[in-house]
Amino acid sequence: MNANRGDLDISTLAQLRADIPLHASDHKGRPYIYLNTCTFGPVLRSIQRRMAAALRAENEEIIAIRAKEPGVRFYGRVEKARHTVAEMLGVPADDVAWLYNTTTASRLAIMSFDWQPGDKLAVTDVEHLSTHSVAQGLAQGRGVEVTVIPSAEANRQARAGAFDSEDGPGYTPSFFLERLDRLLTPDHRLLVMSHVSNIDGRRLPVAEATRLARARGVRTLIDGAQSLGMFPVNVQEIGAEFYSGSVHKWLMGPPGIGFLVISREARQNYNPHHAPIPTDASGKPCYSQVTAATLNELGTSNAALRIGAGACVEIMQRVGLETIEKHVRALTAQLRAGLRAVPGIRVASPDAWEISSSITTIQLHEGSPARCQRLVERLLDDYRIVVKVRPEICGVRMGIAAFNTAAEIEQVLTAVAQLAPAI
Ligand SMILES: Cc1ncc(COP(=O)(O)O)c(C=O)c1O
Repeated sequence: MNANRGDLDISTLAQLRADIPLHASDHKGRPYIYLNTCTFGPVLRSIQRRMAAALRAENEEIIAIRAKEPGVRFYGRVEKARHTVAEMLGVPADDVAWLYNTTTASRLAIMSFDWQPGDKLAVTDVEHLSTHSVAQGLAQGRGVEVTVIPSAEANRQARAGAFDSEDGPGYTPSFFLERLDRLLTPDHRLLVMSHVSNIDGRRLPVAEATRLARARGVRTLIDGAQSLGMFPVNVQEIGAEFYSGSVHKWLMGPPGIGFLVISREARQNYNPHHAPIPTDASGKPCYSQVTAATLNELGTSNAALRIGAGACVEIMQRVGLETIEKHVRALTAQLRAGLRAVPGIRVASPDAWEISSSITTIQLHEGSPARCQRLVERLLDDYRIVVKVRPEICGVRMGIAAFNTAAEIEQVLTAVAQLAPAI
C-alpha cells in the first residue's frame, strides 16, 4: 500500500474514526470507548505509516546527503510540516519552533527571562502541574514571587471534597478578568495561563487577558495543550507573545513533539540558549533574520516526528476544525444532559460552550479519592470505558474527541448510571 495514500483520503469524521487504532478491542474482542484524549490521543494509523515511511525515506536520502548532492527533497518535506502547523495557528512559519512537548515549550519561554529575586510571575489557579512546578522552582531557586490569579470564587470553585448541588465551578471569564485587573501589576514580568484547563475544561479568556497584560507591559504565555485540535485557534488574533502546544492530544499525532510560537516582537528578548544574533555591517543585531527555529532548534532532530506532526495537522484541517468543534460540542451537551439526570453525580465543568470545552469532569456526592478511583477502574474493567481521575477536585474527567460517537456517549451514560450509586 502507498504509505501516503491513507491519510490523503481522510476528510470526514467517519474516515477519521475508521483510522484510529482504538477499535482494537480487549482480549475478549470488545471495543474500547476512549475518553482520555486529554492525556494522550490515539495516533492515527495513517500517521504511523507516514512516519515509518519518513524514516525510510530519510535513510535512503542519506546517500544524497553524504554525496553533498543539492536539493535533498526530504528536508523540504520536513520544513513543509512547520508551515502546515503555522497555518493552523494563523501565524508565520518563522514564529514556530519545534520542541518536545508543551512542558518544554512553556518552560523555555518562562526560562528565557533572567529572573531575579523579587521578580513577579503570575499564573492562574487552574494551571497544569508543569506550570506550577516551574513556578515553584523559580520561587525556591530564584526568589521569584508567584501571584495566583483566581478564576472563580473560592466558595464556588469545584474542589476536592466539595459537592455543591449546583452545576459547574462558579467560573466566569468576567470574574477572572476582574481579578486579573486587580492583581496583575506592571512589576509582573509574565502571565502564564492555559487556554483550556486540564482540570475541568474551562476555557479562559485568553485574548482579553493578553490585552490587559500588554497594557501593563506584562508578557503572556498561553498553554494550548488542551485547545489545539478541539476548536479553531488563531494565535495571531489572541496576540500573546508565546503560545505552547503539542500534537499528541486532540491533534492525534505522535508523542514527543510540540512547539512554541514566539511572536516576532518577543524574539528580541528571547534567547535561552544564547544563540548568536546576526549583525549588520555596523554590528547592530538584525532581529529580522532571527526565527523561532534558529533560537530553539539545536542539534540533530527527529524528522519523522515533524512529518508526523505536519500530517496529523493536515488531516485535522481537511476534516475541518469547525466540523470537529461542532461534533464534540454536540456530544458534550448530550453527555452533560445525561449526567445531570444521574443521582449522586455533579457536573463540575462550566456549561456554556464558549467558556467550556469537550472536557467534562464529574464529582460524586460524598466522593473520596478512593471512590473516584474505583469508578474509573470499574468503567474500564466492566464497560471498557477509558477515563481519568482528576485529583485536584476529586473528580473523574471525560474528554470527547473527534472520533467519539453519540452511541458511545449513550453507553457511557448507562454505565455511569449503573455504577455511580453503588461505587
Ligand atoms: C494544560 C496542559 N498543559 C501542559 C500539559 C503537558 O503537556 P505535554 O505532555 O505536551 O508536556 C498538559 C498535559 O496534560 C496539559 O493538560
